[in-house]
Amino acid sequence: MHLTGTMRINGFGNLEIGGVDTTKLVEQYQTPLWVIDETGFRENCRAFRDAFQACGDSLVLYASKALCNTALCKIVAEEGLGLDVVSGGELFTAMNAGFPMEKVYFHGNNKSLRELQMAVSVGVGRVVVDNFHELQTLNRICLELEARQDILLRITPGVEAHTHEFIKTGQIDSKFGFTLPGGQAMDAVRDALECEALRLVGLHCHIGSQIFEIESFEHAAELMMQFMAEVKALTGHEFDELDIGGGFGIYYFPGDEPRQPSDWAKVASAAIEAKAVQYSLRRPRLIVEPGRAIIGPAGITLYTIGSSKEIPGIRKYIAVDGGMTDNPRPALYGSKYLAVIANKASQKTTELVSVAGKCCESGDMLIWDTKLAPIEPGDILAVFATGAYNYAMSSNYNRLPRPAMILVKDGKSYTILKRETYQDLVRNDFVPEHLK
Ligand code: LLP
Repeated sequence: MHLTGTMRINGFGNLEIGGVDTTKLVEQYQTPLWVIDETGFRENCRAFRDAFQACGDSLVLYASKALCNTALCKIVAEEGLGLDVVSGGELFTAMNAGFPMEKVYFHGNNKSLRELQMAVSVGVGRVVVDNFHELQTLNRICLELEARQDILLRITPGVEAHTHEFIKTGQIDSKFGFTLPGGQAMDAVRDALECEALRLVGLHCHIGSQIFEIESFEHAAELMMQFMAEVKALTGHEFDELDIGGGFGIYYFPGDEPRQPSDWAKVASAAIEAKAVQYSLRRPRLIVEPGRAIIGPAGITLYTIGSSKEIPGIRKYIAVDGGMTDNPRPALYGSKYLAVIANKASQKTTELVSVAGKCCESGDMLIWDTKLAPIEPGDILAVFATGAYNYAMSSNYNRLPRPAMILVKDGKSYTILKRETYQDLVRNDFVPEHLK
């Protein structure tokens, strides 16, 4: 078992989080249930903030795509982090939380006209411009609104990060950003410098997600600094900020070996400092955008176990009351998770089972071949490290209402997302006249 934050096994042999017995949470809120450990979440925010601060001028942005929620945005603001948003919806959530707009960075490879107008009019700190079309559109919007917008350019440095194919974003053949090799990035810088309503303050890159190889970041940072030097040589322009994205890997499963925030901070900042000296550049402010590493380990999902099916000599399936609707990652990426029977957390794990979801789809499996305590219907399954990209990618497939999300801290629990009802599911359905 891999307990993080405030998780522990209590005197009743039950899993506890935030000082609350998970079986009590289930009695109060039912299942499936997403639970976030406020202390763990805050500790992760601080660990990144402090580690990067210790290495020089920096700003840590929480990548809200990992889990975007009004209460959580408030916590991020309290912890002094900035916010990476990637849509009008995430931006709206930040506004709803009263998040300081100057610390919001707006990403996305196809921001709509409305999203860009919204971003400029609410005063987001930076728009991270992804492509030529956006550059011109944003400039025009700013001229119309008589505004001046600080921007970063998203560069695709062509760094290979060793992670799942679908979540690699820095390689050359990518839908994101201006490609560095071949000169597209330099063209973008020239164009940006000519946009009178835009102020080019920095560069951004993001090489992927769930990465453990620190060298990939180091290499990306070096390439970006080298490009900054080329820009300075050709145009005289110097940058204030270098944002090297997120992607810091976390522990899901044996074999995952996460690095400490201080490891990332030291290596990245040493790389940019060395290159700044080598190329006689100002050291830019170092910006990072961890999502998963901040919220992932702070979240667990609680399910109730229902039916089971044993195929002698093959395997035993047990089914829970959620599945790919609340956690699509195993079906989508083959992601692996660890779990425990929360009400039998101190018992020996003697049963080899596979955990199925309840969706009408054979691929709806949460965990293959895992050892758990002997299982009876009604037992509570706790799946670890579900804070990132679970709720964020959840769906209503099979018309399953989304679970509630609960924040726990110091023995208390608070709803931060209401459980969806059947009424919520039909709320936007509309019956045209001829069908009434
Ligand atoms: N910054 C940018 C520009 C990004 O594209 C991402 C993630 C992040 C920061 C945050 O990355 P993190 O620190 O959370 O790894 N749905 C996939 C992950 C997709 C990540 C997309 N971009 C998954 O469930 O694994």
